Amino acid sequence: MNKSICVLTGATGGIGHAIALQLAQQGWRLVLVGRDEAALKRLQGECNDQAEIFQGDLSEANVRDELALFTQQLGGAQLLINNAGINVMQAFSEITEQQIDQLIAINLTVPIKLCQLFLPQITAKNGTIVNIGSSFGSIGYPYQTLYCASKFGLRGMTEALSRELSHSKVRVLYLAPRATDTAINSPQIRAMNKALGNTMDSPEQVAKALIILMNSTKKRRFIGFPEGFFARINGVFPSIVDNAIEKQLPKIKSFFTN
Ligand SMILES: NC(=O)c1ccc[n+]([C@@H]2O[C@H](COP(=O)([O-])OP(=O)(O)OC[C@H]3O[C@@H](n4cnc5c(N)ncnc54)[C@H](OP(=O)(O)O)[C@@H]3O)[C@@H](O)[C@H]2O)c1
Repeated sequence: MNKSICVLTGATGGIGHAIALQLAQQGWRLVLVGRDEAALKRLQGECNDQAEIFQGDLSEANVRDELALFTQQLGGAQLLINNAGINVMQAFSEITEQQIDQLIAINLTVPIKLCQLFLPQITAKNGTIVNIGSSFGSIGYPYQTLYCASKFGLRGMTEALSRELSHSKVRVLYLAPRATDTAINSPQIRAMNKALGNTMDSPEQVAKALIILMNSTKKRRFIGFPEGFFARINGVFPSIVDNAIEKQLPKIKSFFTN
């Protein structure tokens, strides 16, 4: 039975919960990270005592340092999953400075800093880092400017680090879910996805895709069709995606204007 340590951020969220249960089933010893202590304790109970909990706000430097120390004292992490994330879906002109700082911090700065902080532990174990991105990490989408900025950044950082470490045994992987049925999606976003005919995956499907990615030799995985296909097309022929999204714009706009 695998008893290696996995640090999972965003464990209290929809995707984190599903990942925790599937990894616990595989025998990983989890360090569940989030701010909601009651939710962490509930999840710990569901993981058959195979989990430690670590409560704290990852935007605070001392919390990240304490997390790294906590994990080191348990024996060191073999796997770091940067999964915590937030979203703001609104017109660019209406986004506040505080929202910009908070979203870029949680979705981009925190995963970068955790990668750096945990790299000695991961290197010592020949371990793996998985950064959870999004199909919006490859496709610029209206009313998702901040989120896209953060996830494009995370994808670039993951790719660069993976290549920097390609002569070592450390793996740095990127998983890009499409719309998934969790609390990150407001009723407004859900209504828009329905109107556009966008499929919503279950968190369990995302967790399964993560395990498939970890067990493969691949470095990145984009979940779902057509999102995964569009993510690749956007890199090569962005004008095709420009045109497709331009056609959707009136419908998208109708969800964000009073
Ligand atoms: N659901 C989707 O449609 C979708 C699609 C593509 C990608 N993703 C990505 O998947 C990941 C997981 O999202 P989800 O759908 O599971 O969202 P979720 O249910 O809203 O969960 C978000 C998680 O992030 C944690 N978090 C937020 N701010 C934090 C902070 N300051 N410090 C510590 N933890 C913090 C939350 O924990 P606490 O509340 O306990 O602090 C929660 O566990 C995110 O990176 C998201 O961008 C989601």
